[in-house]
Amino acid sequence: MRLKNKNILIGVCGGIAAYKVCELIRLLKKNEANVKIIMTKNAQKFITPLTLQTLSQNKVYTDTFESEYFYDIEHISLTTWADILVVAPATANIIGKFANGIADDLLSTTFLAFDKSVLIVPAMNSNMFENAIVKQNIHKLKSVGINFVEPESGFLACGVYGKGRYPENQKILIEIEKLLCSQDLAGKKVLITAGPTREYLDPIRFISNRSSGKMGYAIAEEAYKRGAQVTVVSGPVSINTYADIEIIHVQTASQMYQKVKEIYEQYDILIFSAAVADYRPKTTNETKIKKENTDELVIELIKNPDILKFVGENKKPGQIIVGFSAETENVLENSQKKLEEKNADLIVANNVLEEGAGFDVDTNIVTLISKEKVENLPKMSKSEVAKRIFDHVVTYLCKM
Ligand SMILES: Cc1cc2nc3c(=O)[nH]c(=O)nc-3n(C[C@H](O)[C@H](O)[C@H](O)COP(=O)(O)O)c2cc1C
Repeated sequence: MRLKNKNILIGVCGGIAAYKVCELIRLLKKNEANVKIIMTKNAQKFITPLTLQTLSQNKVYTDTFESEYFYDIEHISLTTWADILVVAPATANIIGKFANGIADDLLSTTFLAFDKSVLIVPAMNSNMFENAIVKQNIHKLKSVGINFVEPESGFLACGVYGKGRYPENQKILIEIEKLLCSQDLAGKKVLITAGPTREYLDPIRFISNRSSGKMGYAIAEEAYKRGAQVTVVSGPVSINTYADIEIIHVQTASQMYQKVKEIYEQYDILIFSAAVADYRPKTTNETKIKKENTDELVIELIKNPDILKFVGENKKPGQIIVGFSAETENVLENSQKKLEEKNADLIVANNVLEEGAGFDVDTNIVTLISKEKVENLPKMSKSEVAKRIFDHVVTYLCKM
């Protein structure tokens, strides 16, 4: 868990979305972060300090002149304590104060004294958000390195449709993680294949596999958090990911192959986690195959193109290739062979028969196999596996 033991200071302002920050606090606590809250005077008109105190399991700070904050030597100041300041929801008012160096309450004073990452989550009426002064203030703050989460468009509490809505808390959580995470993939372009493929027999029937795409998407999200520009060539999955990750949807192995072939040269790190069908039906009926009077139906299969092999054979200088190997026997032996034969730099091998590994679960048990070393990892979340893969890539393979 990347947020474990991180100190997150949240500034809550007097906007109608103030109640939504409760969910953010809950998510942060679930991720084992420490949370402290500053509320503006007006925020307390919308939700009570008691609610936020209970959720954060910490005292809520509201007053600049409380001795505890500035002078009590037994307490570390909030600015020193926090790893990041998140202002959510941020009103037009607080953004204006921040942009103009006004420090007339605890939150604006803390902002001026804060020298680590700041993330602002504006939420307001669309006219307020589109107001030229508010825009200028946001622009000014961005220009000095303050980070923002863009508000969403939709129906606002004031009854109008427009931009200004408080975004999904999950999205805010990811931006917090990104800001707290080392940006060791900044400037890198990462291409990932994910999910299953579908090999059609007719317009409505296909041969596929149990891949959910969870592993590939976890890899994409990890790369994004570490600063990479990320593209996923994805088979059919039901996963929503961050808007900043480019998703190219494909269905069949041939489509995936074509897409990868078309774009792979542009990428620095290529990770092939998709469960690509090895074979496809020799013919695909244009209309639905009808039930006949025969008891048997024989389907002839032909081999699909090998995406990993193609990229391995046509690898560009400096490219790093990571392949996945889903095995049911001789895992190490088969994966080492694959490393060599496919000209890969790293093979992530897993025995898909092990409980908690492989398809459609949130965990995986993998072995990282490279020329440098073989590393057996215990059962862990797919997000953690993704982290370990990039740790390996950065430590052993990238000439950063
Ligand atoms: C019912 C109500 C809802 C409001 N919602 C918002 C809002 O969503 N965003 C915003 O910027 N201001 C909103 N305001 C205006 C702010 O409360 C006002 O600008 C206030 O001075 C903000 O104080 P603060 O920034 O110190 O918390 C709202 C006001 C009221 C009465």
